[in-house]
Amino acid sequence: MTVDYARLQSQFETLADTDSDALAMSANFVALIYSEMPDINWLGLYVTRGNELVLGPFQGLPACIRIPFGQGVCGTAAQEAVTQRVADVHVFEDHIACDLASNSELVVPLIDYRGVIGVLDIDSPLTGRFSAEDQAGVEALCASFVRRLSPDASAGYGFI
Ligand code: SME
Repeated sequence: MTVDYARLQSQFETLADTDSDALAMSANFVALIYSEMPDINWLGLYVTRGNELVLGPFQGLPACIRIPFGQGVCGTAAQEAVTQRVADVHVFEDHIACDLASNSELVVPLIDYRGVIGVLDIDSPLTGRFSAEDQAGVEALCASFVRRLSPDASAGYGFI
């Protein structure tokens, strides 16, 4: 089943327009995508804190709290500032198994003028769940999310 990413983006932007609080926007961002993507067991944000990523709003089972830059799929995406689309996490050297149900993973870095401010991590129980189309759609959603956070810059970014 394919996801209508354009519709998802306009739903997110409508939600974001109702209130610009970064924490509330982040929580709704992950809840919206999770509710619309089939075959996902975990979806959430890790935010940059110095040289590591710290768990933020998510949907799914409780997960590892801190991931150093450069470690695991999330830490690799953050360090290289490049999306990681992993068809089989069991052959990814260094994969951090938070939820044993996860078999494939898509991690998109969130990048603004300061660099990588966090990542969006999506896990699936299906091997090879994420297509190039999913990657492009989720990257567009993340770009929209980062743009919506930016007006908060003068007031600080809230938690992110
Ligand atoms: N598997 C991730 C860790 C985060 S959890 O999947 C929620 C990784 O290797 O970075």
